[in-house]
Formats: sequence, structure tokens, C-alpha cells
Amino acid sequence: MLGLTLFFCMNIFSASSQNITGTKVNLAPTPPMGWMTWNYFADNIYEKDIWEMADAMQSSGMVKAGYDHIFIDDGWQGGRDNRNNIIPDQKKFPSGIKALADYLHSKGIKLGIYSDAAQLTCAGYTASLGFEEQDAKTFASWGIDYLKYDYCGAPEDSNTAKIRYKKMADALRNSGRDITFGICEWGDRKPWLWAAKAGGQLWRTTGDVRDKWKRLPSEKWGEGIMDILDVNAELAQYSGPGRWNDPDMLVVGLYGRKGPSGDGGGTGCSDTEYQSQFSLWSMMNAPLIATNDLRNMNKATQKILLNEEVISINQDILGKQAERKIKNEVWNVFVKPLANVDYAIAILNRSDGVKTFKINFSDLGLNRKYIIRDLWQHQAVGKAKFWKGKVQSHETKIFRLKKV
Ligand code: GLA
Repeated sequence: MLGLTLFFCMNIFSASSQNITGTKVNLAPTPPMGWMTWNYFADNIYEKDIWEMADAMQSSGMVKAGYDHIFIDDGWQGGRDNRNNIIPDQKKFPSGIKALADYLHSKGIKLGIYSDAAQLTCAGYTASLGFEEQDAKTFASWGIDYLKYDYCGAPEDSNTAKIRYKKMADALRNSGRDITFGICEWGDRKPWLWAAKAGGQLWRTTGDVRDKWKRLPSEKWGEGIMDILDVNAELAQYSGPGRWNDPDMLVVGLYGRKGPSGDGGGTGCSDTEYQSQFSLWSMMNAPLIATNDLRNMNKATQKILLNEEVISINQDILGKQAERKIKNEVWNVFVKPLANVDYAIAILNRSDGVKTFKINFSDLGLNRKYIIRDLWQHQAVGKAKFWKGKVQSHETKIFRLKKV
């Protein structure tokens, strides 16, 4: 009997430490937050700049607000040594990656790094194919907490992708350190259907976001905030604790900076549009990964990135991605249930003009009277069964609804 009880207890324990897809929930129980090198520095990354960003992340209040990762993207690699260990570029990281990780950890910041499931990365640097276990051990020995694993130079079929990602996921799991695994094959092989099973906690759902609102009909490429939204919003059912849809980085505060986010027509957005990206990404459980220059943020950018009420919607432990309940040329309305039984709703005006909107909450399946708190104004704006008001062009309102 005791044996049977023990057996059940062990089963319950192992079931509760894993989610339905078999991945460990504790690696990313809420969407990761932080700052990533790519859009600001491209592959010109130097340790001095990263130290400065870490200091700025702390002094600006971002660490306190939950941004607790720095993600080194492509361009850190300096090849392999004579024992095939991957090494950083000595000019860019003269103190080594471990020294950087130690510095960040002393500030309560985790370190993410980047590689690719082929011989070379997207920007042409040394990658991990064939060296998965060795690289995973190296990353663990440096104190790495997160790996973004790209897919440039790899074959197109899904089967190979599943095998290559699982290989690295297993290697990370056997590395002796908890390393969160972010899969980056741009949604091309529908990773929401297999990436969690392969061992990923996140998977990119789209190509790279550019610093623009929307791709124009005349533009051949370059996805803007709306293009990415339209893919990611349809994938709500696949997102949950430890398995997040990743619609790519925040472009908030880049203002048309040249470089990766400026390519493909990324000439910049207005603060209202940046506020919308932040609101929508928060509603969709996206990782909140800033890419602007944290050392020189203007007030508008700080106001967006440091909105703790909106961040709390993103970090809500229930981990339900908002569903897009209304979708037409002008209006998109999203609903996200929260752990304390409140709801967050977001109202986006996609049109080119300011418009008035009235929404009866019952049309969203919310049949009570609610206290309506505007999370950008930081105040209650009513107690009702509906909301009516003006929404600026490209603005997204976020309300928290509490049952009266
Ligand atoms: C790909 C990824 C980007 C970035 C670059 C680096 O394009 O999608 O996010 O990591 O590679 O080369």
C-alpha cells in the first residue's frame, strides 16, 4: 500500500513538474523579458557596450520592472580552439563570456547567447551543427541561461528541423545547467505544432520584425508590427507557461535606426505605434525584449517600456494568450483572462484616423459589470457593462476589467 501511494505521489509530482507537452515548465513560467543586441548593434557587439547596457538596464528601473535578461545575438563568435571548443571573438569579448555572465548575474541579470543549427549562423559566424553537446557544455560552463537557436543554412524540411532542435534541446538538458531554449526558424515549419515537444520553451512565429507599422503593397519584404500581429494573433491556443509564441523583438524607441530593423522599409514608427506594439505583445504573451539604446532613452520610450501595469498583463501567471475576438479593417479587440479572474482587453484602431468606438463587454463573452482601469492612463475610467471612447489612429488601449 505504501509502495502504491509512493508510486502515485511520484507520478503526480512528475506530472506537475512538466506541462502537457513534456517540457519543463520552470524554465520559462512567464514570457522572458530583457534586452537583445541585434537591432541596435547588429553583429558589432563589444563587451563594453553590453556592460553599459546592463548598467542602464538597472539604473533606468528596467531590471526592477522585470527585464532580467541580456541576450547576445549573432556576431559574438570567434571560431573554435584547437579542441573544437567554441570561443568568443577576442577583440569583441577580451574578458570572455564567463566574466560577462558573472557581472550580469551579480546584478540579477541573466545572460542569453545565440547559435544556429547549421555550420554557419545567419550573419556567417561559427555555429553548432555537429557540436551540440560540446557547445551546450561550454555555454553551461560560462553560466549561460538562455540559447536562441537560429536556422539559417539548414535544410527546408520540417523533419530535419525537429531533429536538429531536439538534438540541441537534449544537449542543453544534459549540460548540467538550466538553459531556456528559444527556437528561431521564423514560423516557416509551423513550430507551434512541434517545438515544445522538441524541447523549446519559445518559438519564433514570423520573420524578423522591422521598425515599421505595416508592409506597404509596394514593398517586396519587411514585416511590420501589423504583419507580425496578424500571424501571431491566430496562434493563441499554442501558448502557455513554458511554451510561448515569439513574435520577435520590440522595436520600441528605435525611431528608424539604420541596421537590421531599418532594413525592409523600417523607417521608424510613432510613439503611439510603439505603445501599440508593447500593448499587443503584452496581450499575446510575447517575450518582451527591448532592442533600443537603453543608455539614451527619451521619456516616451521609458513610459512605454516601464509601464508595469501593462507588463503585469504580459507576466500574468495564468499564461493565456489573448484571443482576438473582433477583427475588421478598423478594429481589433483582444481578450486575455488573468489569474485573479480579471480580464485584460485591448482595443486597436488600425485605421488612419481617430475614431470613436463602443464595445459592449457582453459581445466579448464578459457578461458582468466591471470597474474599467485604463493601463496607459493609470486610472479607473468607469464602472459599466460597456466602454465608449475615442481611439487615435494606430493606438491600442488596454483596460483591466474587474468584476463589480
Ligand atoms: C536571423 C534572426 C534574427 C537575428 C539574425 C542574426 O535573421 O531571425 O533575429 O538573430 O538572424 O544574424
